[in-house]
Amino acid sequence: MKTKNLKLTADNREEILKEAGEVILSGGLVVFPTETVYGLGANALNESAVQKIFLAKGRPSDNPIILHIGDESWLDDLVESVSGTQQKLIDAFWPGPLTLIFKKKENVSSIVSGGLDTIAIRMPKNSFALDLLKKVGVPIGAPSANISGKPSATDANTAFADLSGQVSLIVDDGFSNIGLESTVVKEDNENILILRAGSVTKEMIEGVVSKPVFFATKKEDLNSSPGTKYRHYAPKAKLQIIAGDSENIGENLLKIANENLKNGIRVGILGTVENMNIYKGFEPNVFSLGSKNDMLQISRNVYRGLRFFDDKDVDLILVEAFEEKDLGVAVMDRFKKASAV
Ligand code: TXA
Ligand code: MG
Repeated sequence: MKTKNLKLTADNREEILKEAGEVILSGGLVVFPTETVYGLGANALNESAVQKIFLAKGRPSDNPIILHIGDESWLDDLVESVSGTQQKLIDAFWPGPLTLIFKKKENVSSIVSGGLDTIAIRMPKNSFALDLLKKVGVPIGAPSANISGKPSATDANTAFADLSGQVSLIVDDGFSNIGLESTVVKEDNENILILRAGSVTKEMIEGVVSKPVFFATKKEDLNSSPGTKYRHYAPKAKLQIIAGDSENIGENLLKIANENLKNGIRVGILGTVENMNIYKGFEPNVFSLGSKNDMLQISRNVYRGLRFFDDKDVDLILVEAFEEKDLGVAVMDRFKKASAV
């Protein structure tokens, strides 16, 4: 299959919407932009189309897929019920980077839900994604547009590198605004559990619900979100996180980089712009994630940074740690998963 990679402009927007809509409705695959990361989309109501997603990504079949919807009213056909707490979260964060887990209706295919009786749903904020959903009028099932296990694609060319030949169309809308996948949230009886950290932070959720909010840590909670058990976001080289307070972290990292270099290990560095002058000796194998005072800029660059080193000859990537609060939780979650072996 020949893959078209089309750059979205004001002039061709309608044409590309039409073409992408036709591919989705005829059971094909489209890579489309969302505000979090690029999605690999198929008509979620068409089982054979959804199966193509698993094949294209090399995704395990028990790892369920998020449904993207174009309007809140679509929930009626997909889920058994919406709780008061879920409604508050929807009102506060949709459209946007928050995925909620619902009990699914019988008619939703268990291929989409990975065999679970629940289903993950979100309404994306990217305007092309929303317009595409409204145009096709069916939910689009879409995982991140990368080969399973690799860092997610936050631009069209990365999606093309991973999925060329497997999808009909890639819609290029520049770099993803947030750069990390949506927050995944599940309600149990007394609590709100965050199954995957994202840019809708624990603090933001606490601001709108009256229940206690926790990051899921117990195995049984995480097992209910099968995606969390697979290796994720992994660059080719090993990744090591360097801790330290922000005053001395650059010096710490440099010391460890030099020790590795002495042992013949080729080092890459992912750091903040504030410390770039410290790392000069390691150029060109240095990638700036942005300013430590702008966590959105950092989050946008997490996967770009990890992917940057895939084309470089390095054995070990050293990354500065970030404070685990607000968006820093999601950033550190991805680096920890990328460093797990
Ligand atoms: O931002 C995002 O969420 C992106 C864009 C494309 O929307 N999508 C994305 O999909 O990250 P994916 O497939 O890479 O991640 C889906 C996550 C996995 O961790 C999966 O286990 C979890 O959502 N999930 C899906 N259905 C679930 C369910 N029924 N219960 C618990 N977790 C579920
Ligand atoms: Mg993914």
